[in-house]
Amino acid sequence: MTETALKKITNYFDLFLLNIKVKFGNFIEYMRVVSNYYSNSTFAKIDSYLVFSYLFNNPFVISKRFLLSRNEPDVYTYGETPLTSLEDIAKECRLSSKDVVFELGCGRGRTCYWLNQFIGCSVVGIDYVPEFIKRASEVKSKFGIENVQFRLEDILDSDFKGVTVIYMCGTCFSDEFILKLVKRFNTLPKGTKIISVSYPLSDYSKDNSYEIMKRFPIRFSWGLSDVYLQVKL
Ligand SMILES: C[S@@+](CC[C@H](N)C(=O)[O-])C[C@H]1O[C@@H](n2cnc3c(N)ncnc32)[C@H](O)[C@@H]1O
Repeated sequence: MTETALKKITNYFDLFLLNIKVKFGNFIEYMRVVSNYYSNSTFAKIDSYLVFSYLFNNPFVISKRFLLSRNEPDVYTYGETPLTSLEDIAKECRLSSKDVVFELGCGRGRTCYWLNQFIGCSVVGIDYVPEFIKRASEVKSKFGIENVQFRLEDILDSDFKGVTVIYMCGTCFSDEFILKLVKRFNTLPKGTKIISVSYPLSDYSKDNSYEIMKRFPIRFSWGLSDVYLQVKL
């Protein structure tokens, strides 16, 4: 066997193992979600509906297809915040039922529903993948959920009126994109909280517009990442 063929086989095997590891991790996380949160019967209905409706057409594939249709250079950017980690984030950032949370890039919307059902806050989920917004909105009307809205928009065009907290798990956003987003944030009211994963906004803003209130490690499917809570000055 040639060295190249051997390398190929090793790569496939590594990918296979990684796939198994991720699937196993997701399964364990789902078991935790069921045991911790499904006693809330409304959430149980919403979440199991969402999980099962994506079972044979998973969000990673939907996101990849969408990005391919736009000729994006990187099509493997989808990921989700585990709901048990979202609970830690909500506690660390002291989110409350008075908050209006805008989730920028909400994906299939499980996080939006969790925040609404367990923190009691109003949530606006924004994503540019039509299928995510269509299905998340279907769930809202199917189960008659209030104070959760989904918008099919590019985040860079969004109107943030009414926001008190922004959550963005934009670990795959390019530097160029974050710079544009931070410019858009210039119009946010003082005191708006912004929760970002992996990087603080101060890395992208020269004019000291943000004060980092907290930095804490949180578990994601790819490992630990720092989460930053910052406030707009
Ligand atoms: C890493 S996923 C995070 C999903 C969800 N927020 C979570 O934490 O579970 C990022 C999401 O941002 C969306 N997204 C990326 N760029 C966007 C843009 N310019 N406008 C709207 N949505 C965008 C993607 O479609 C994807 O669903």
